[in-house]
Amino acid sequence: MASLLGYCRAGYEADLANELSARAAQLQCYGYPKFVRGQGYVEFDCYNPADADKLGQRLAVADTVFARQLVVVTSTLDDLPREDRLSPVLQEIIDHDDSAMVNGLLLVEHADTDEGKELAKFCRKFAVVLRQGLRKGNCLTYKEKPQGRGVHVFFTQFDRCLVGYSYPDCRSAYANGIYRLKFPSAAPSRSTLKLEEAILTMLTPAQQQQVFREGGRAVDLGACPGGWTYQLVHRQMYVEAIDNGLIDEKLMASGLVEHFAADGFTYRPQFGRVDLLVCDMIEQPDRVARLMGDWLVNRWAEHAIFNLKLPMKKRYETVTQAMADLTARLQKLDDSFVIRLRHLYHDRDEITVSILRE
Ligand SMILES: C[S@@+](CC[C@H](N)C(=O)[O-])C[C@H]1O[C@@H](n2cnc3c(N)ncnc32)[C@H](O)[C@@H]1O
Repeated sequence: MASLLGYCRAGYEADLANELSARAAQLQCYGYPKFVRGQGYVEFDCYNPADADKLGQRLAVADTVFARQLVVVTSTLDDLPREDRLSPVLQEIIDHDDSAMVNGLLLVEHADTDEGKELAKFCRKFAVVLRQGLRKGNCLTYKEKPQGRGVHVFFTQFDRCLVGYSYPDCRSAYANGIYRLKFPSAAPSRSTLKLEEAILTMLTPAQQQQVFREGGRAVDLGACPGGWTYQLVHRQMYVEAIDNGLIDEKLMASGLVEHFAADGFTYRPQFGRVDLLVCDMIEQPDRVARLMGDWLVNRWAEHAIFNLKLPMKKRYETVTQAMADLTARLQKLDDSFVIRLRHLYHDRDEITVSILRE
């Protein structure tokens, strides 16, 4: 039985499983998810083997909420012999090679869990020898080709791996589906990384240029101590920072920030409108989504990037419900919007939503 493998944050397997089941059904692909809580991945077994490939071609990681990476699995190799793990894996990849597609890159990966991390060094070494073997067998380009098919080997134990492939337009470009960032030492909180990752991974370079214009205006709801405001100031935007807490003094010294100790639910922009609304308030998702809708519908903001906090169990259902109401309101407008929802690497029990007006 062919399956689709999805990587996720440990503890989010049920959410990814629900999402994959729902998205697969929308594409008329049926099956069932398999996972153990905390393992950091989900396998969605398809009743019709051809559906795994169909999902691999149609379901882009960027259009899902909880998947970090999606791989079409061709086989699971158990009990790999300690003295030669390479040959069975190599043979498996060669057997499932598709001459219609060029294999442009190889990814040997593991789950983002404590057990998975123990495999990291082994995976790196294994990738070197496997890459050589695949190139020798004309099964992988000599120069890496990001536009080619990706060959994936996902180790769950030293002697067990899932072998598969991904399509260029649907996979995450990052190893293990994780976008790592260095904490900027001048930023006042680690939360800054959430907005930075959102900007760099959820917006195309053209969208980044359009939204983060030098001299543009933004409102930051729930701004303190200022990690998100830091990202806006770093991009030379004027910021109205709304929070009863204390904001970082260095940010205030930039001359680009005005701090208002006000309630984010009743605050309105100083000049009637802003280019961008960002919001990281810890509040119920449906309440935040409704507020974001008010700003976008009334055009107090052109675009919005915000977090929905998800401390509850049924995260996928909560997100779907909160976003359904907001999306329905936006659909009644003449404008069209690009909406993305992602559980980012730097997010905790929350997801990030970007809504850009076109
Ligand atoms: C997760 S923190 C924000 C961290 C911030 N984004 C950063 O990067 O430093 C949430 C903030 O929301 C603020 N907050 C919660 N409810 C609020 C409300 N109704 N109005 C304004 N701020 C609120 C809290 O005071 C808190 O500082």
